[in-house]
Amino acid sequence: MVLLSNRGPISFTEGTDGTLEGRRGAGGLVSGLAPLVAGTDAVWIAAALSDGDRRAAAGGVVEADDLKVQLLDIEPATFSLAYDDVCNSLLWFAHHGLFDAPRRPALGRGFDTAWQAYRDVNRAFARAAVTAAPEDAVVLVQDYHLCLVAPLVRAARPDLRLVHFSHTPFALPEWLLALPDAAAVELLEGLAANHACTFHTERWARDFTACCASYGVEAPPTAATPLPVDVADLERAASSPACESAGAELERTFAGRRMVVRVDRIELSKNLLRGFAAFDLLLAERPEWREQVTFVALVYPSREGVDEYVEYRADVAALVAEINARWGTPDWTPIHYDDGDDFPRSVAALQRADVLLVNPVRDGLNLVAKEGVALNTADGVLVLSTEAGAWAELGDAGALRVNPFDVVGTADALHAALSMPAAERAARAATLRAAATARTPQDWLEEQLAAGPD
Ligand code: F6P
Repeated sequence: MVLLSNRGPISFTEGTDGTLEGRRGAGGLVSGLAPLVAGTDAVWIAAALSDGDRRAAAGGVVEADDLKVQLLDIEPATFSLAYDDVCNSLLWFAHHGLFDAPRRPALGRGFDTAWQAYRDVNRAFARAAVTAAPEDAVVLVQDYHLCLVAPLVRAARPDLRLVHFSHTPFALPEWLLALPDAAAVELLEGLAANHACTFHTERWARDFTACCASYGVEAPPTAATPLPVDVADLERAASSPACESAGAELERTFAGRRMVVRVDRIELSKNLLRGFAAFDLLLAERPEWREQVTFVALVYPSREGVDEYVEYRADVAALVAEINARWGTPDWTPIHYDDGDDFPRSVAALQRADVLLVNPVRDGLNLVAKEGVALNTADGVLVLSTEAGAWAELGDAGALRVNPFDVVGTADALHAALSMPAAERAARAATLRAAATARTPQDWLEEQLAAGPD
């Protein structure tokens, strides 16, 4: 098996003595897939993202953390055009419905250069897969960064089987209008050249086939194969000394108060602003919660090469400061905002959350929703957006539903969660946990290997 993804499972840094040190990378894709691939013969091919990665790339396939990783040293300007301009400014926005019509990107001539860079990056991945894959191997292609890999690999290696998995939702046909028509067709044809395209939910698979139909592209077989959580891996993390000491610190800091928790990348689709606005409204309308509840927001910046992310991060920090100034007291800061990306602390907070807020405007899955439910030992209540892919698995299992655009509804859901009787919390937590852990990582892998025609 060969796995292709933009972000690799290990990021390398150079120590003061010049040696390379590998550290498990962040993000849903890596935490979902790394445990599956660890200890197997699979080669994981990814882009080199840092100087350390570029040095590691020169060594060919490197082994780290039980994984065989091959990093591709792509020319930085080409990589940045493909990643920032095409993947994250254009495709991400289209798949998550983040454009408002009057501001759709005005694609100048620069688009052609960026799109060519996207092609070049896909070509580099295709070449590496063609070289690395043993005969008759399966190539698992991950995400919207690599939509053009399949036709190139198929032409060179008809023996290989290709399955593309989208970690994101898929655009509605009208959202793909943000791309020039020829690019949209190339994108869809690139995906259609896989033996199968898999998604977290039936809903995203339907949106993809609707796009194919609207652009006259014959859709490949599709399947809904939501990424599971690896319970053993989570439990290992939770029982580590770092998590235990982070947990003890959280307990000391928030002793006697309830905790509403969110753990997210600072990302437009995650809808942090409306989440904090809902907490603000809760404190305004229900004074009984003042000084009784802390919103513990453990978030981390990403994609800072894209202007919208930088602006969004500043807007989020400003709103948090405003809310804390409005309601804070000498003994109580309403929102504990930490953008330090501390994994053990996030795990410890998910274990102890009284309420976990997951309110994205659109999200492929939201692994945090499943991880949070699996880790939680406080009968925490999950407040979940219907627009997260995880809603398909957890919506009927006891999550409290929110429309992510409805701030009033979100404030009411937070109140309902905080006031829920203990017996109901326990019952919902049990059914949620069963639903979140019903499928194993092995199930997901078998589904990928079996997807498409025999
Ligand atoms: O959810 C889509 C996704 O690309 C994941 O695959 C990844 O874990 C996350 O977004 C982070 O994205 P990036 O690699 O751009 O930081």
